[in-house]
Amino acid sequence: MGTRKLAGKESRQGVVIGGSGLVGGTIVNYFKSKCPEPIDVLAPSSKKLSIREPADIHNYLQEKKPDFIINAAIANINSDEQLSYEVNYLGPLTLARASIKLQIPYIHISSAATLELGMDIGEDRKKQFTTGMSNYTRSKLMAEKTLEYLFRQEGLDYTLIRLAAVYGNHDHKIQGIHRMLFSVADESMPVLFTKRGVLHSYSNCRKLPYFIHHTLNHRREFAGGDYNFVDKDPVELVDLIMTIKSYLQLNIPKEICVPYVLARSGQKSVGVLLKLLRKFGLKAQLPSELVFLKQFYVSQTLNSDRLRNSSFADPAPDETIYSRLPEMILYYIDRWSHQNLISTYNEEMKLDKDFIETFQHNPEALMGAAHQGAVRTVGGEVGWRSEQQADSDARPEEAHG
Ligand SMILES: NC(=O)c1ccc[n+]([C@@H]2O[C@H](COP(=O)([O-])OP(=O)(O)OC[C@H]3O[C@@H](n4cnc5c(N)ncnc54)[C@H](OP(=O)(O)O)[C@@H]3O)[C@@H](O)[C@H]2O)c1
Repeated sequence: MGTRKLAGKESRQGVVIGGSGLVGGTIVNYFKSKCPEPIDVLAPSSKKLSIREPADIHNYLQEKKPDFIINAAIANINSDEQLSYEVNYLGPLTLARASIKLQIPYIHISSAATLELGMDIGEDRKKQFTTGMSNYTRSKLMAEKTLEYLFRQEGLDYTLIRLAAVYGNHDHKIQGIHRMLFSVADESMPVLFTKRGVLHSYSNCRKLPYFIHHTLNHRREFAGGDYNFVDKDPVELVDLIMTIKSYLQLNIPKEICVPYVLARSGQKSVGVLLKLLRKFGLKAQLPSELVFLKQFYVSQTLNSDRLRNSSFADPAPDETIYSRLPEMILYYIDRWSHQNLISTYNEEMKLDKDFIETFQHNPEALMGAAHQGAVRTVGGEVGWRSEQQADSDARPEEAHG
């Protein structure tokens, strides 16, 4: 890998695609504030560099000449065929070809959606293409197969990291597991849309950049490999939801599991109703995760032996979704309450009364403090609330005190 000067030191420079997303944001955060080596990362927005535009990719990479590329971009999960194909398949293909040309590693983030359902699913148990699979799954699977082809045929130096349900603190869109947390917190999940005994694997977003960094430093070991990056032990969905409910001290969801056929037909009826409402100008959509409704009823646990038998050392071996739940719940409830997305906790999470008073009646006091550089520290003076750690995903070790 090439090196360049950064603040007087030899450094590497990488490009992260999808750096505004949950996964990409955590990766950028790590390299910017946590990485022990001088590695600089550039994270162009999709407006600046859309991976749907081969010319954008070409021009950007030619100009920057990075030492590695990490791709954590995806089209929205319920995107149509064209967008899924362009962002999830053609984009990675163009990035991979550019990596071959520049002779740099390409780190690709993929999804457990490409693997079979069932227990203890290893990296080799990829799904077969079927007409019924979602656009997301098909396009991700196509990308996985093409990257393998480019590795064998054209010498692509790549590592594929496959994630299951991701937990972490940078989800600005409220998707996946955080959508479930949101539904419980918002009290919009009266009963359970799963069945007892259904297990899934979970991926700790905060640990992922440590693995990426490690693979970049050990290309001989990791080139051409794909890795299920999941916590060792799977988790029962019913238990997870009930644990969240008990932390939030709510009365619902009730521990009643709705059978799949009923949930499926309910989903279809609501879909028809929403279509009808749209004719009257009311815009409403079912959460995109419902593409995966079936998955709430079927176990999928990934085997992570390949990861555990590699030279990578887990930076926080005891950290699991359960150990992180209290902190994640606080982070998201605070965030969603301030965005007025949920009302349940408004009383508890209310801003400091003094602050509200000052904001409404004496904005000059806040401005004065801000002009003196005291935006977050005015504390007692004007009653500013202390800010929740927004970048806590960059600090696994601090989570253990
Ligand atoms: N979240 C999960 O639970 C989960 C589970 C399994 C696997 N994964 C995998 O993890 C990766 C990242 O997912 P995520 O949850 O972080 O997604 P996300 O939060 O939705 O972020 C997606 C990112 O992709 C960018 N993007 C979209 N279209 C683009 C384009 N045309 N050009 C460049 N960038 C574009 C977005 O940028 P803009 O915001 O600017 O559009 C955003 O930064 C994906 O490979 C996904 O398959 C995620």
